[in-house]
Amino acid sequence: MSRWVDVGAIDELKFSPGAPVKVDDQWLAIFKDGDDYRCIDNLCPHAGAPLCDGTVLDGKVICYLHCWEFDLRSGACDVGEEWNVKTYPVRVQDGRIEVEFPAVA
Ligand code: FES
Repeated sequence: MSRWVDVGAIDELKFSPGAPVKVDDQWLAIFKDGDDYRCIDNLCPHAGAPLCDGTVLDGKVICYLHCWEFDLRSGACDVGEEWNVKTYPVRVQDGRIEVEFPAVA
């Protein structure tokens, strides 16, 4: 089961380049990717840097600490699949971003 969670108005999210948002106790990062938005876990699995503060290039975010790369669509890490991050579907409703997130048990 999952649910769509409103994480804020596009105009109010702080994109730099990703926008950090919190759902339940988990930090996620929203990125603009062309005309679409993507959502991945914000915590870099290497040493915990916030991926929202990385650099976006060709549909990937590059972590600012040690330059590992994560695909914004798949979460795939260039170092190895054991380091992939989770991705979450995103939709825009009336200028607001919603993320599909697992339902609370
Ligand atoms: S903390 Fe992200 S690559 Fe090291």
